[in-house]
Amino acid sequence: MTDRYAVFGNPIAHSKSPQIHTAFAQQTEQDLSYEALLAPVDAFSESFNEFLQRQGKGANITVPFKQDAYERAESLTPRAQRAGAVNTLWQDEQGVVHGDTTDGVGLVRDLTQNQQLDLKGKRILILGAGGAVRGVIEPILAEQPAQLVIANRTVSKAEQLAELFADFGAISSCGFADLAGQQFDVVVNGTAASLAGDLPPLPDDLLAEGAACYDMMYSKEITVFNQWALDHGAVKAIDGLGMLVEQAAESFNIWRGVQPKTDQVMAQLREALNQS
Ligand code: ATR
Repeated sequence: MTDRYAVFGNPIAHSKSPQIHTAFAQQTEQDLSYEALLAPVDAFSESFNEFLQRQGKGANITVPFKQDAYERAESLTPRAQRAGAVNTLWQDEQGVVHGDTTDGVGLVRDLTQNQQLDLKGKRILILGAGGAVRGVIEPILAEQPAQLVIANRTVSKAEQLAELFADFGAISSCGFADLAGQQFDVVVNGTAASLAGDLPPLPDDLLAEGAACYDMMYSKEITVFNQWALDHGAVKAIDGLGMLVEQAAESFNIWRGVQPKTDQVMAQLREALNQS
């Protein structure tokens, strides 16, 4: 029988996950279906339970339900536990619902494998300290950067994250104003500012020579942050489309035990985006 998977979100119509997972299933010859499901904002758990009753095997979880998914999971991977968010759920044969987060692995794979950036020994800056950033800190620290700085508009939130992940590597926190005089080799934008076409206040000399920038958002036109990066000397300005596909590949592997190839799917999505 065809196994059922889905992505839950609200809104969800724009989701590219069905297209990505359907392509992975074809490529790896896995018999599964994958759909986008809209859950009411206050009833994620009910929607997910109904999905399980109708032979649902596993799901991806997107905005605004990653916290609800964390609470719904009966068993969490250590990285999901620390991130406090879940983007991948699945039910095992005993009926136990497991939760994991694959966003961070997705980002690191896009940086290190697709973009061929070695993060070891690098000075890395992350802008933002919200849910999106929380999930990527541990995998970035695992690459052993020289330092990882979390800068956020609300400094206390950056401080909390730096404390939470202190045991995993050289992490510190600050506000945007404290960035004056500092230089970084890799800068990742994890703020929601891009969504509104906005940019955190950044010093003009923030980027070290040869620096690469990464916006966790993506769009048809270059994002405001990536435009800023190119205008300030970045040799690369990468958007989050690769992260989206890589986090999906990691979820697919968790569910099916097969690691799909991502390059063709990424190229197809980019082309569709350019033509939209
Ligand atoms: P997400 O799940 O997308 O991370 P979030 O948890 O609401 O969403 O976090 C949004 C992040 O974007 C936060 O770091 C937020 O800064 P604050 O913690 O100070 O609110 C940041 N952010 C949103 N709009 C911003 C803006 N215009 N300038 C700078 N940072 C912004």
